Amino acid sequence: MKIVMLGAPGAGKGTQAKMIAAGYGLPHVSTGDIFRANVKGGTPLGMEAKAYMDKGKLVPDELTVRILLDRVAQDDCKNGYVLDGFPRTIPQAEVLDAELSKMGEKIDFAIDVEVPDENIIRRMSGRRACVNCGATYHIVHIPPKKEGICDACGSELILRDDDKEETVKNRLEIYHKQTQPLIDFYNNKGVLKEVDGTKDSAAVFEDIKKILG
Ligand code: AP5
Repeated sequence: MKIVMLGAPGAGKGTQAKMIAAGYGLPHVSTGDIFRANVKGGTPLGMEAKAYMDKGKLVPDELTVRILLDRVAQDDCKNGYVLDGFPRTIPQAEVLDAELSKMGEKIDFAIDVEVPDENIIRRMSGRRACVNCGATYHIVHIPPKKEGICDACGSELILRDDDKEETVKNRLEIYHKQTQPLIDFYNNKGVLKEVDGTKDSAAVFEDIKKILG
């Protein structure tokens, strides 16, 4: 099963993608996580991506597509995956589509997690991310057992650089211009499914399970 997660920054795509990955035994492939791991490791790719990410801009398609195609060509993606944060532009979706068509494959579900912009700004200021394993929490809605410490690996939790209010507003603006058109793209292919992302994360996952079966 090949799944694409759609939705604004902070809609809960990552939270749901991890739950789907665990529940259905699929790899969770997040371009944002791949970029952040490279920033942390100080690689040339990380340095290039950081300049865009810190301003809330998209990393150029050419670079992003190359990284994604390399990742999904790995063995663990043979039987499917959950894509989180990719595609984010129509050209990215078209390349993915063309690559899958070559193998007689396609995206089975594009799940759009819908949350209004005003909720997003509130959510992002409360998000905390693990510096080590990338697990995410929310200080009110999904708190860790011990404040400031990751439940999964015991490392420190931080506010992401791109979660500052001004940057979040830029990211939302770019989302509406460049990423929202993907909703029509996948609707036209008959694979779009919408879920109400304002419910709590367990309830959102229940709705997704009804879609995936
Ligand atoms: P990326 O990491 O993909 O960021 P994003 O899409 O902006 O998504 P987020 O991770 O911010 O949000 P999310 O929807 O996953 O929400 P989450 O589950 O964490 O990308 C970062 C950057 O990398 C981009 O800005 C860009 O520069 C670059 N990039 C990445 N991919 C790219 C691409 N394809 N092309 C070009 N550039 C690319 O939830 C948010 C918060 O809400 C958390 O605190 C969470 O705990 C909480 N929460 C989750 N669900 C709920 C709920 N139901 N109720 C209450 N709180 C909830």
